[in-house]
Amino acid sequence: MSSILIKNAQIVTMDQNNRILLGDILVEHDRIKAIGPDIQPPAGAKVIDATHRIVIPGFIQTHIHLCQTLFRGQADDLELLDWLKKRVWPLEAAHDGESLYYSALLGIGELIQGGTTCIVDMETVHHTEHAFTALAQSGIRALSGKVMMDKGDEVPTLLREKTSQSIQQSVDLLEKWHLHDEGRIQYAFCPRFVVSCTEELLVEVRDLSERYRVSVHTHASENRGEIALVEAERGMRNVVYLDHIGLANERLILAHCVWLNDEEKEIIRKRKVKVSHCPGSNLKLASGIADVPDLLDKQISVSLGADGAACNNNLDMFNEMKLAAVLHKPTHGPTAMKARKIFEMATIGGARAVGLEDQIGSLEVGKKADLAILNLNKFHAFPSAEVDPVSRIVYSASKTDVETTIINGKIVMENRIMKTIDEEIVLKEANRSIKRLLKRLPSIT
Ligand code: GUN
Ligand code: FE
Repeated sequence: MSSILIKNAQIVTMDQNNRILLGDILVEHDRIKAIGPDIQPPAGAKVIDATHRIVIPGFIQTHIHLCQTLFRGQADDLELLDWLKKRVWPLEAAHDGESLYYSALLGIGELIQGGTTCIVDMETVHHTEHAFTALAQSGIRALSGKVMMDKGDEVPTLLREKTSQSIQQSVDLLEKWHLHDEGRIQYAFCPRFVVSCTEELLVEVRDLSERYRVSVHTHASENRGEIALVEAERGMRNVVYLDHIGLANERLILAHCVWLNDEEKEIIRKRKVKVSHCPGSNLKLASGIADVPDLLDKQISVSLGADGAACNNNLDMFNEMKLAAVLHKPTHGPTAMKARKIFEMATIGGARAVGLEDQIGSLEVGKKADLAILNLNKFHAFPSAEVDPVSRIVYSASKTDVETTIINGKIVMENRIMKTIDEEIVLKEANRSIKRLLKRLPSIT
């Protein structure tokens, strides 16, 4: 049995009592076996000296598009609907299996380097098999699915699916990948947003999610143009419509929720829908500012995500935490969105959003060993004396401070060396893939 002993760390547990401890963490196989002072290493254990290091639960990002990592810098300075129609949809349509594979690995590499250990990921229409292969190889924890889109005149022909095909392909992928590697990978149904989905598709997704007990991940109420389209076509506001067709429940994860009225907030609260706040994306796409302090006041589950590299342009939880912390202060005052609340959204809050709060999101005996070791012994995060470590993490730290990342008890990065992804090859293949993809782009209609 593989075991890892992390010695002499400052441990930010995020357990129910928010304990911060000095001591050791013993990992056996995929789980945390013990936390405490002076744990002796079992025979054959790998020992990591974490003196003057901080150990945190791995970050959980609840809205990511790995298929868009290759499009970093290809779709800047546009609003959502133009961004989709002019750039992102044609680019997604131009993917082949190989480009999707490297897009996913590039994104996963960035996530692991930044201490993210679990993602909710929305892929593109085709080639999703290759993204799952990358997820499986990399060791990251994920809920992922192919995007579903069976409606929309301005969608490239290549991305426009027949309803029955979209559903069949989703179910095929689910049957192949759901609960892969003892549950490290889960399937999630991913209708893109109401604008590009027929009611028939959405109703079928509702039934399938019920039958298989899996999450549904979609975009909702991100942009004013989007909600106007939904209202014109369905005669209801976006979230009211999702509830009307029976999709609003505790398995629904909604990215953005920038433009909600009180009725919609009440639906989200009552139905226990999960909100993924993506401040970096919302600012860059000029979408607006979600009223997160109000959602939190209403006891709604809000977690964090970077969205995709085509609209962020990083997949960096430190960036999202800092933005989420400072963004709401001018309107709600300086005590809104305190560091501890933000860190909770980035860890145990994300775990609750994906229904895995018994497994991940905090450092506790019996939970899966998903964690990051930070080295904050640097000018930008000092002094360390007399400071709450959570303040240092949320307000001062950055992704390059992550030294080592462990997921499911496996070291996926150690001292910044990637263990499951060949960094050199992925960087080289990412460049080759985007060049090839852009050559295919003019033939996309
Ligand atoms: N709405 C529909 N598709 C997308 C997407 O790919 N990204 C974002 N941010 N919003 C969307
Ligand atoms: Fe998105």
